[in-house]
Amino acid sequence: MDGKTDLLTEEKGGPDQGRMTIRGCRHVRGTVTVPGDKSISHRSVILGGMAEGTTRITGFLPSDDCLNTLKAFQHLGVVVNRQEASTVFMESSGYQGLSEPSDVLDFGNSGTAVRLMCGVLAGASFFSVLTGDKSLRTRPMARVTDPLKKMGARIDGPDQGKRLPLALRGTPLSGIFHLNSHKSAQVKSAILLAGLNARGPTSVEEPVATRDHTERMIPVFGGTVHRDGQTATVQPGILKGCSVHVPGDFSSAAFFLVLALITPGSSLRLEGVGLNPTRTALLPILNAMGARSIQVTPSDPASIAGEPHGTLNIGFSELSGIDVPPEWIPNAIDEIPVLAAAAACAHGTTRIRGAAELRVKESDRIRGICEALSAVGVAVEEFPDGLSIRGQGPQPRLRGALVQSLNDHRIAMSMAVLGTRLPAGEQIGILGTDYISTSFPGFREILNRVVS
Ligand code: S3P
Repeated sequence: MDGKTDLLTEEKGGPDQGRMTIRGCRHVRGTVTVPGDKSISHRSVILGGMAEGTTRITGFLPSDDCLNTLKAFQHLGVVVNRQEASTVFMESSGYQGLSEPSDVLDFGNSGTAVRLMCGVLAGASFFSVLTGDKSLRTRPMARVTDPLKKMGARIDGPDQGKRLPLALRGTPLSGIFHLNSHKSAQVKSAILLAGLNARGPTSVEEPVATRDHTERMIPVFGGTVHRDGQTATVQPGILKGCSVHVPGDFSSAAFFLVLALITPGSSLRLEGVGLNPTRTALLPILNAMGARSIQVTPSDPASIAGEPHGTLNIGFSELSGIDVPPEWIPNAIDEIPVLAAAAACAHGTTRIRGAAELRVKESDRIRGICEALSAVGVAVEEFPDGLSIRGQGPQPRLRGALVQSLNDHRIAMSMAVLGTRLPAGEQIGILGTDYISTSFPGFREILNRVVS
């Protein structure tokens, strides 16, 4: 014990589904090893479950979302052992050896898990039912079920299979060509995963490149994926178990990156962070806003299991608002809430457009960010496809308030980061913070360690 008082406190559970309170800080310093990447953890479990033999995953993110994916494979007959929270062993008889689950597969809050698993299970030799929590049951599923039906899948669900729960009557699939008009990595991945067990090759063309973890990881398990320009093509084939290391999650690192960037005098080091370029568009966005104090050092070896990673050293920068180029949005989509927090501490206005996908994330993030920022005294304007934020500069005059995260982990963490800029005597209460554990268990402890 160092006698330091926590600036971020938490009450779990209750009718608000968790509540955190944050007060302003003066200093940000230290070193953080961010937990494993959520997208890559899901994919390592999914491919490990589909592969024959033993798969060893290190750096696995033990968050609620990823644990649900692991549990689903246990229901499908895969033997799972966890030596410590972030090391997972999977023993599978391969895709053909998966067995019919005796219960509904519940993916909780995770759109990635349920959509990718639709692709995995559509071509299985058995029946399965996939569902999720209240938020997930409102999210659009036709973006994956429509192309899977073109491959021959038999999928039923409410609203003609547009929503969960979905019933999949496993059936042999045929490869297709699909244009990824939603600019969604989940859609692309669901189709490529289905293609692993379809007749003939399966191709997905992307108007804009989305995160490519699935394409990078399939060859690590012995499968074949080719990229030709903006088109990725997977060949059907048998996967073999292997060892995979999951780098730290850039999306989790982003909260601490912004925390250091907006705090005068800060000095923060983030280690082992995934630096896949399809994930890191926040860096050029912040650079365009004037962030000159982010130093990126690639690790040696530069990539593990196909994924680049490295260290970030961050200090304070005075930021200026910009019009965010819409072509950067898909590769910064999960970082828009924390970008909004940075924008609130910039000089001038930041405009984010071309981001309508934010309306169908874990919450309607455009509405959620606008309401939360307004509550603490930041002027915003809401658009159908984005928002603008009138920045208050590096010494913002934020006011204390009680804000709703809409049970959205990224809105909750972004408001905690912004709350560190409160003037003395003010505090922000954030509701719905139990959902932070879907992606970032340990967030509160790490934040308290680096702020004072
Ligand atoms: C993800 C893709 C993105 C992202 C989500 C994770 C993935 O969703 O927002 O948090 O792991 O494939 P979309 O594919 O819907 O854009």
